[in-house]
Amino acid sequence: MSSYGMLARRVVETETPVMVQIQELIRGAGDAMSLAQGVVYWQPPKQALEKVKDLVWEPSVSRYGADDGLPELREALVEKLRQENKLYKSSVMVTAGANQAFVNLVLTLCDAGDLVVMFAPYYFNAYMSFQMTGVTNILVGPSNPKTLHPDADWLEKILLETKPAPKVVTVVNPGNPSGTYIPEPLLKRFADLCRNAGSWLVVDNTYEYFMYDGLKHTCVEGDHIVNIFSFSKAYGMMGWRVGYIAYPSNVEGLGAQLLKVQDNIPICASIFSQHLALYSLEMGPEWVTKQVKSLVINRSLIMDALSPLGKDSVKGGEGAIYLFAKLPDKYHDDFEVVRWLARKHRVVVIPGSACGTPGSLRVSFGGLREDETQIAAGRLKKGIEELVRDGMLQ
Ligand SMILES: Cc1ncc(COP(=O)(O)O)c(C=O)c1O
Repeated sequence: MSSYGMLARRVVETETPVMVQIQELIRGAGDAMSLAQGVVYWQPPKQALEKVKDLVWEPSVSRYGADDGLPELREALVEKLRQENKLYKSSVMVTAGANQAFVNLVLTLCDAGDLVVMFAPYYFNAYMSFQMTGVTNILVGPSNPKTLHPDADWLEKILLETKPAPKVVTVVNPGNPSGTYIPEPLLKRFADLCRNAGSWLVVDNTYEYFMYDGLKHTCVEGDHIVNIFSFSKAYGMMGWRVGYIAYPSNVEGLGAQLLKVQDNIPICASIFSQHLALYSLEMGPEWVTKQVKSLVINRSLIMDALSPLGKDSVKGGEGAIYLFAKLPDKYHDDFEVVRWLARKHRVVVIPGSACGTPGSLRVSFGGLREDETQIAAGRLKKGIEELVRDGMLQ
């Protein structure tokens, strides 16, 4: 029969998905509440769901569609990119979510063994996508300890010193798991550094609408820049699996190469889901912004819960749906703290070690309604207070 030794090293040596471990923890902890998964509590717009209902019988939704997406959805997205993101020279490929978009890009831009750059704390799935495609030469740069912004000075030095230059530099804006955003001048500096070095810059904008306190998300464009977007969080469409890539139209052949990957993974994103995405998009960004506003209270509830760690230990909350908290120094093994919180205090969060930053916690404030967040935050606060005061008593 099969033996472990017969499996591909590429995948065996890829990290175990932290969410799978966390889901097991949640199941094992009975009535535990989850502040772990990066999800939102809302469903897609009601009007969009109503419209899509009628399409079930439409024969075309059961057939394959164009590999790069429904023409009418792509057209609407090109317009959205122009209007909202100021991206004027980008072409669109619709994917089965932003994670698949990232895999398409890794397979299209990188060869096994290429050097790539990420910043800790990083998005764990992006790290795994590199690993499982043989791109194991992953240089993980630091973030500014005060702001958690990826460190551009470090990148400048690395790009000067490293020959050949890294193939891809990737950032998430606003960040998962940092919960901070990359201010426009810093993002532009990243773009300039990558262009001068001959590296691709891949920016994951999954949380583009999740900005707070009047801050504004921006994108950069260039022949070396690829932007990723997602319908999952903005429109509450996690399970419908729709995202897209905005890639530079001027780069000859890039679209054709991306299509090779696309044709061998999903062929096309679910046609039914793409119709829902189009109807949702028609609701306009205001619909999303209204949902996002409702998270401000959740954020303050979780901030309060983390406050016993001390103000300087808690970062994020500027964007996305995350707060990122540093634990007291002795808790380097953050998974132990996560297990203890689940077992004793019935609340589940993500260990920072899964994102390359041990000794910390990622807490999501998007997945529960306000009343539920209040209860989860109460449990978290009790746990954190106890942790700081007495340690992990049984
Ligand atoms: C930064 C980031 N990119 C991509 C994804 C995955 O999005 P999708 O559901 O569109 O694949 C997530 C989900 O948590 C995310 O946080």
